[in-house]
Amino acid sequence: MNAPAVGPMTPSASTLDIARIRADFPILSAVTVNGKPLVYLDNGASAQMPRQVIDRLVRYHTHEHANIHRGVHYLSETATNAYETARKTVQRFLNAKEDREIIFTANVTDSINLVAHSYGGAFLSAGDEVVITHLEHHANIVPWQMLRDEKGVKLRVAPINDAGEVILEEYEKLFNARTKFVSITHVSNALGTINPVKAMIDIAHRHGVPIMIDGAQAVQHMTVDVQALECDFYAFTGHKLYGPTGIGVLYGKAALLEKMRPHRGGGDMILSVTFEKTTYNTIPFKFEAGTPQIAQAIQLAAAIDYVNAIGLTSIAQHEQALLSYATERINSLGGVRIYGEAKHKSAVISFYVGDVHPHDVGTLLNGEGVAVRTGHHCAQPVMQRFGIPATARASFAFYNTFEEVDALVTAISKVQKLFD
Ligand code: ALA
Repeated sequence: MNAPAVGPMTPSASTLDIARIRADFPILSAVTVNGKPLVYLDNGASAQMPRQVIDRLVRYHTHEHANIHRGVHYLSETATNAYETARKTVQRFLNAKEDREIIFTANVTDSINLVAHSYGGAFLSAGDEVVITHLEHHANIVPWQMLRDEKGVKLRVAPINDAGEVILEEYEKLFNARTKFVSITHVSNALGTINPVKAMIDIAHRHGVPIMIDGAQAVQHMTVDVQALECDFYAFTGHKLYGPTGIGVLYGKAALLEKMRPHRGGGDMILSVTFEKTTYNTIPFKFEAGTPQIAQAIQLAAAIDYVNAIGLTSIAQHEQALLSYATERINSLGGVRIYGEAKHKSAVISFYVGDVHPHDVGTLLNGEGVAVRTGHHCAQPVMQRFGIPATARASFAFYNTFEEVDALVTAISKVQKLFD
């Protein structure tokens, strides 16, 4: 393989003060890897947390913690207020009509399982069809397969083209009288494709079918307005949005949530219990059995406040500039194949260096301090579509810099030299 040609590309200006932003993220300067500065490009798997969100946990446990919805004492009321205020923060973040349409879950996987069980399990029957796309990660495939195995529901998969875009005409062709539910990703975690979700929602609704959007890879990169989208359900996860692990969100239209069965039984999701009969609580509590992730929900709200203060428009602009620069520079190396060339992409680059296995690429990049994810990205069907077992994936956040792109490109060129 030829030596890398370092291109003349210049990064475009960013409106963000990245140095100031990076100072908020302790881990970015606290950690060195193999004596090199950390270049963290695995944000699609989990993003790092700013001090403001870390500190929120300390403040909560220092001044506010007790169980919620259960006590008249000061701390219980304080924790309940903070938790319910967090729900309102999420409501505003998604522009949901009402805060009772926001359910706290464990993560996006939990949110999708909830819908598959509580909506699918109640309203779908043998022969009914659920539409997904070839871009889905396992979290939006396996729950529907479990429903298929339990109830005889059929799974229909909208194909993608070589650029990694859903073929809209083929998606629409899947609809028929048996189509009862659609669940699609907003942004592909493996390829970065941004789906035209508004068009896909409108198609589903033209056929009278409710639709869920998996926003795990979307909400941290772009403004999402569930009322403008008119989606029936929307889900995301906290730790990819600079919040903690163990917290996710399910938005659902109130009318749908009200008629769905609970996902789990236990405390707080009931109004009354006798041995003969239980009356369920109203939404959203009907779906939040047991003591919820109180601290994590409150931290998630702090993460949303943090992101809002920077502004998703500026975030998107900076990340798109990183994406263009990184794409150009990686392409200029020669011998690196990028998977996922959608016209509308988030700042994700999945790549294959020559015929070097991505795990070897990841290990060698780690030697240079560069963290990327390698593997199938919990989206094996995407890999199967392109006939590869895995890719290396760089996924960017607003705190990443153009110098970090240079470090990635230099590290890839070292891999090329080693396998030349
Ligand atoms: N779904 C996560 C990723 O894309 C874990 O890496």
